[in-house]
Amino acid sequence: MKRVLVVNYSQTGQLSDITGQVIAPLRAAGHDVHLETLVPTTPFPFPWPIVDFFDAFPECVQLDAPPLRPLGIAADTPFDLVILTYQVWYLSPALPMTAFLQSAEGRKLISGKPVITLVACRNMWLSAQETMKQLIADAGGRLIDHLAFTDQGHPLATFITTPRWVWTGKRDSFLGLPPAGVSPEEIRQAYRFGLALADGLNNDEEKSGQPMLTGLRAVIVNARLAISERAGRRAFGVWSKLVRAFGKRGQWRRRPILLLFVVYLITLIVTVVPISLLLQWLFSPLLKPRLERLKAELEQPSGSQEFNLKKYAP
Ligand SMILES: Cc1cc2nc3c(=O)[nH]c(=O)nc-3n(C[C@H](O)[C@H](O)[C@H](O)COP(=O)(O)O)c2cc1C
Repeated sequence: MKRVLVVNYSQTGQLSDITGQVIAPLRAAGHDVHLETLVPTTPFPFPWPIVDFFDAFPECVQLDAPPLRPLGIAADTPFDLVILTYQVWYLSPALPMTAFLQSAEGRKLISGKPVITLVACRNMWLSAQETMKQLIADAGGRLIDHLAFTDQGHPLATFITTPRWVWTGKRDSFLGLPPAGVSPEEIRQAYRFGLALADGLNNDEEKSGQPMLTGLRAVIVNARLAISERAGRRAFGVWSKLVRAFGKRGQWRRRPILLLFVVYLITLIVTVVPISLLLQWLFSPLLKPRLERLKAELEQPSGSQEFNLKKYAP
């Protein structure tokens, strides 16, 4: 029997549902799973009032996370494996996860441990995962696997369906667009990772430092989106500093500059993203080798291969 720490925070319940699918086979196999749900001292609203939604932007990007309530376990509790499940807020890890990874308790819990990250978001998680890698390494953890779940809609459709979902709580199909969020079938299929992990833990594979979840289509990177995301991340860095120069989260005096950022963001979404996707599509024969290299690199360590899908079918 192995001891597994799973860290979770979810507003709509989507990330908790996926996490639940991964945990169930681990528990069924007799492993001891502790699910730690993060609770910010001041809860983030859901659905999000629009002003609060944009006002959270600078602190997400600058990793300035408000504190959490004390964890339900002591920081020196021994674990064989840690699974960090998170969602993306503004191309960064959601603030509760940032708070956990910056806290003395969180850092102690993952120090020296093999760590698996699981992200569920609209579709842009690459920059957030870079930040996660850095925070995990700073705390002395070893990242061995990464799983990514993204929304079922086309990347452009989700620019409408995801904000509608987080601003109103409505997730259903709308204007002929698919429902917001990860598809129910993808969520159900997340069970395969738990089955494979249970096997891996039974064979002490977590000690090897090698990924345990290859061959299970753990991540599929759209390298075209990666290029837009990189440009967005750079701009977010500048804007977040600028807004913070005008005031703290919740203060009226930073609202005008925040409004300017919103105008910028909308312009970016309706012009730069489609144009960049169009240009990449036009030049795809030229870009193909580069995009394929980038895709393979960004899909590390668990990859998009499928050779174990049959073995661990739910
Ligand atoms: C403030 C905020 C910012 C978000 N920014 C992003 C983002 O930059 N990229 C992305 O793919 N998803 C983004 N999302 C969507 C979330 O990652 C996630 O899919 C959604 O909030 C549901 O997560 P839940 O499990 O907490 O309910 C954002 C959501 C919120 C609330």
